[in-house]
Amino acid sequence: MARPVIWIPRHLSAATLERACQNYDVLLKNEDTPGTAEEIVEMSARADGMIPCHSEHFTAEIAGRLDPRLKIVANHSVGTDHCDLKALKARGITVTNTPGVLNDATAELAVMLMLGAARRAVEGDRIVRSGAWDSWSPAFIVGKQVTGARLGIVGMGGVGRSLAKKARGFDMEVHYHNRRRLGPDAEQGATYHETVESLLEVSDFLSLNCPATPETMGMMNADMFARMPRGSILVNAARGSLVDEDALIGAIEDGHLAGAGLDCFVTEPGGNLAFAEHENIVMMPHAGSATVKTRDAMGFRALDNLDAFFAGDEPKDAL
Ligand code: DGY
Repeated sequence: MARPVIWIPRHLSAATLERACQNYDVLLKNEDTPGTAEEIVEMSARADGMIPCHSEHFTAEIAGRLDPRLKIVANHSVGTDHCDLKALKARGITVTNTPGVLNDATAELAVMLMLGAARRAVEGDRIVRSGAWDSWSPAFIVGKQVTGARLGIVGMGGVGRSLAKKARGFDMEVHYHNRRRLGPDAEQGATYHETVESLLEVSDFLSLNCPATPETMGMMNADMFARMPRGSILVNAARGSLVDEDALIGAIEDGHLAGAGLDCFVTEPGGNLAFAEHENIVMMPHAGSATVKTRDAMGFRALDNLDAFFAGDEPKDAL
């Protein structure tokens, strides 16, 4: 039987490509640029499966134009907000993601953003790097202490739970909101809040770790920021669309928030240059899962899903 053909639009890890080539005829794009709508449609007529990232958008319009040859979209991401799942399903296309394998890397980055915003890392780095460090005082670059503070987590899935575990290492008091309350084993003493509003009120640090859905998009608006304690810090390593960016700038500029740590933006790539005016906002370019170990794990998980599908089984991460 002929080997299935798969299209890999982005530059995945070397180990992923090596394994992919063992079982599939792999079509690659030379340039590591997002697959366009035209490329996706064109490749759907040449490939039985694809391993896209969150940078390839499968809107309802694109789903409607896909060739019937394409049978599976095995995402190299846990988030699937770039896919219109209903429209793909209507075309009989199986869609999978990569849950679990990027929890620790993403939670690590959330910790970095939290500490960076709390301890004024952007400002401190700039002062030393530019040679502007010409004095010292006990009043100099005083930040907010993380140890013992209250951390609110919105979304207690794999990343949220990994972050909670790391935060306990800083003796943080963990609070959370989730669609469903966790059992005591998973909760590990964290305090559950039935509403996000109630969580915000006790969050010295607030970390967003939920998916972007019609219910959560734009949830962090001016009213919600006002509910957070004065001097608190927002961390977002989930999706930019969860945050009303103008409202965040407003909360930073009037001093209600002491800072923010952002890995995700409404506009990606590019981000929001209005944030760059503020050294109390630490930023990264959507790099939560960008470690060597996790990139391999994501690629392998996508391949596990493809392997199961082409063996005639239900992929573990079918959505
Ligand atoms: C994910 O897996 O959803 C990350 O944001 C990287 O794409």
